[in-house]
Amino acid sequence: MKKQFIALLAVGLVAILLLGACASGESTKTAETQAAKLTDAEMETLITEKIHDKHTLEFILSQDKTAEEWSTTIDRMIQYGAKITPEEKTLIIDWLVSRNK
Ligand code: HEM
Repeated sequence: MKKQFIALLAVGLVAILLLGACASGESTKTAETQAAKLTDAEMETLITEKIHDKHTLEFILSQDKTAEEWSTTIDRMIQYGAKITPEEKTLIIDWLVSRNK
């Protein structure tokens, strides 16, 4: 009886771990598909919204930065008051970096 209970518990734990792994895979995929879904025009609109009147879009698009450099810059912009969610930050960086490839 005790052996059966332990075996059942082990199976349950493995199932939970597998579900967790699938879910995290899903969230990463979601960010990527979202980025893939937005057109260049939509990304330019999003960035224009976020930079308000602090920069021109041309200024942002003229920068040639790595993803790490953009992360540092955007974190600093958020400190200055830029309203950028973590998802939007990922979208903006992925798009800005993919543009210069
Ligand atoms: C998507 C939004 C934004 C992007 C991509 C962006 C990007 C940049 C870049 C590339 C620079 C030049 C310095 C560097 O290369 O790190 C910069 C400087 C600056 N940005 Fe932004 N910016 C954004 C939004 C904002 C907003 C909303 C503000 C103000 C509320 C702001 C304020 C500043 C200031 C004060 C500087 C000059 C001082 C510094 O470099 O730290 N930015 N920004």
